Amino acid sequence: MMFSELRYPIIQAPMAGGVATSKLAIEVSKNGGLGFLAAGYKTSDVLESEMKACIEANVLYGVNLFVPSNEMLDEAALKSYKKQLEKDFSMTLPVKEWSDDEWFEKLALVEKYKVPFVSFTFGCPEKEIIEMLHKIGCKIIVTVTNIEEARIAYERSANAICVQGINAGGHRGTFQNTNSLNYEPLHELIIKVKNAVNMPIIAAGGIMTGQQIKILLIAGASAVQLGTAFICCNESGANEVYKRSLIEGHFQETVLTKTFTGRLARGLSNEFMKKYELQAPNVYPALHYLTQPIRKQALENENPQAMSLWAGTGFKMIQALPVKDLLEKLVEEANFFEKE
Ligand SMILES: Cc1cc2nc3c(=O)[nH]c(=O)nc-3n(C[C@H](O)[C@H](O)[C@H](O)COP(=O)(O)O)c2cc1C
Repeated sequence: MMFSELRYPIIQAPMAGGVATSKLAIEVSKNGGLGFLAAGYKTSDVLESEMKACIEANVLYGVNLFVPSNEMLDEAALKSYKKQLEKDFSMTLPVKEWSDDEWFEKLALVEKYKVPFVSFTFGCPEKEIIEMLHKIGCKIIVTVTNIEEARIAYERSANAICVQGINAGGHRGTFQNTNSLNYEPLHELIIKVKNAVNMPIIAAGGIMTGQQIKILLIAGASAVQLGTAFICCNESGANEVYKRSLIEGHFQETVLTKTFTGRLARGLSNEFMKKYELQAPNVYPALHYLTQPIRKQALENENPQAMSLWAGTGFKMIQALPVKDLLEKLVEEANFFEKE
């Protein structure tokens, strides 16, 4: 069984950008859930040290990798956006049109340490890669946002899919970089995907309470994946400006934006998003590198209006708790029974 080793079918979402540290993942796994490391945007050396921390803590864990994009670059649009941002922020911004985010090095690490759970986002790896990881005992999860992507993951022999609904915080995990959206409520999407492919499903997007977890398990999910709910936990690596923005009530809503990375992602609606949404081109990951110095400076200035504050639609229910207490609360609300 896919998640039979877990006390609770609750997965802490991999969260790139410094939130999902090994400290967070270890604490989640120690307390009955499944902690995930986010390989995205970090070097393979940093990832390796985080993996070693999980191994030393003797906990079950997962690693999430971004599948490199193969999209065409709109150079003219990138240039014009760069020019505008440089003028507005009075800085010289870097151009890095593409990166594979150390894809092969990170895959080699996952293989070397035989990581128990490996998830992929922004695409589905070739069947050969999935089969190679199966052979060494890794369980493979592919993030999908619709039935078509679910079918591809099924055909390529993934063990499970993480179905990401429209309310999810962070990037849309679509295989292609697109602005077209699937607005189906998560529980309806789960039911449809469940009818289309016969494989375990993890539900993700906007889940903040045990009651929601229960509904999604009834709809057919085998487990749930929560991101936003963990951001303000004591063990999370999120910076204080980000945590305060989520919890202090100054932000009223989340929106999907491509302004920061060139790919749609959901975060607290701020001035940067409002100002540049129409101008920002869909060029990922080039925009991620382009806007990095702006976001860094904004953090130094404690200015949340130019930071990417990824969050799901349920952020108003966020609580600053130790992981242990958050999991206990979710389990109590969902009325689970601990396994013998
Ligand atoms: C700050 C943040 C960073 C994220 N980074 C990743 C990531 O690196 N890889 C990934 O597969 N999903 C990532 N996600 C998306 C989550 O896997 C998941 O789909 C989402 O958190 C679910 O919605 P929720 O935040 O409302 O719980 C991220 C989400 C957030 C909030």
